[in-house]
Amino acid sequence: MKICCIFHSYSGVTRNVCIKLKNESGSDLFEVKPLNEYSKLTAYTKGCLRARKGEKDSIDHESIDISSYDLVIIGTPVWAWKTTPVINAAVNALEGGEGKKAIIFATCGGQPGESLRILKKAVEEKGLTVIGEVMMTKNDINEKTEQLVKLVKDTASNL
Ligand SMILES: Cc1cc2nc3c(=O)[nH]c(=O)nc-3n(C[C@H](O)[C@H](O)[C@H](O)COP(=O)(O)O)c2cc1C
Repeated sequence: MKICCIFHSYSGVTRNVCIKLKNESGSDLFEVKPLNEYSKLTAYTKGCLRARKGEKDSIDHESIDISSYDLVIIGTPVWAWKTTPVINAAVNALEGGEGKKAIIFATCGGQPGESLRILKKAVEEKGLTVIGEVMMTKNDINEKTEQLVKLVKDTASNL
């Protein structure tokens, strides 16, 4: 049973969730970064505008081959009630995911908007089936991280 977790994290919250997932489920991590890093200012100006338009950034992975994995986890921060331009590009770069199961999650301050719906649609367009989703806010991040870890472990043991 091989699990991978593909994520973007600007300020570290989503990364910490993924590190916990790696420690508890043995998942391989693929952190995806933009070629042009955002500053605090450009994240809220350019980044939010690009997120609102559903655009894709240039990223540090040309393609992400997930053909050797049985379960794929994808995590994003919420920007302007949507997925980030970095995770949009990461999902677009997935190769070999047809027919695989995916679990998606997002972290946010408290206003998730349409983010998980957008992520689910993009992941399913790459041929994966989303079998679970978890939204985390700053108030319930610990509890929801536990929920995600349990969901991943339970799913992995039944595959
Ligand atoms: C540019 C930007 C836009 C954001 N937009 C939202 C938003 O629309 N709704 C929300 O609840 N939180 C929003 N946040 C807060 C982040 O989603 C939240 O802090 C998230 O957990 C950060 O994850 P990260 O540390 O992995 O980058 C925004 C943060 C940034 C930097």
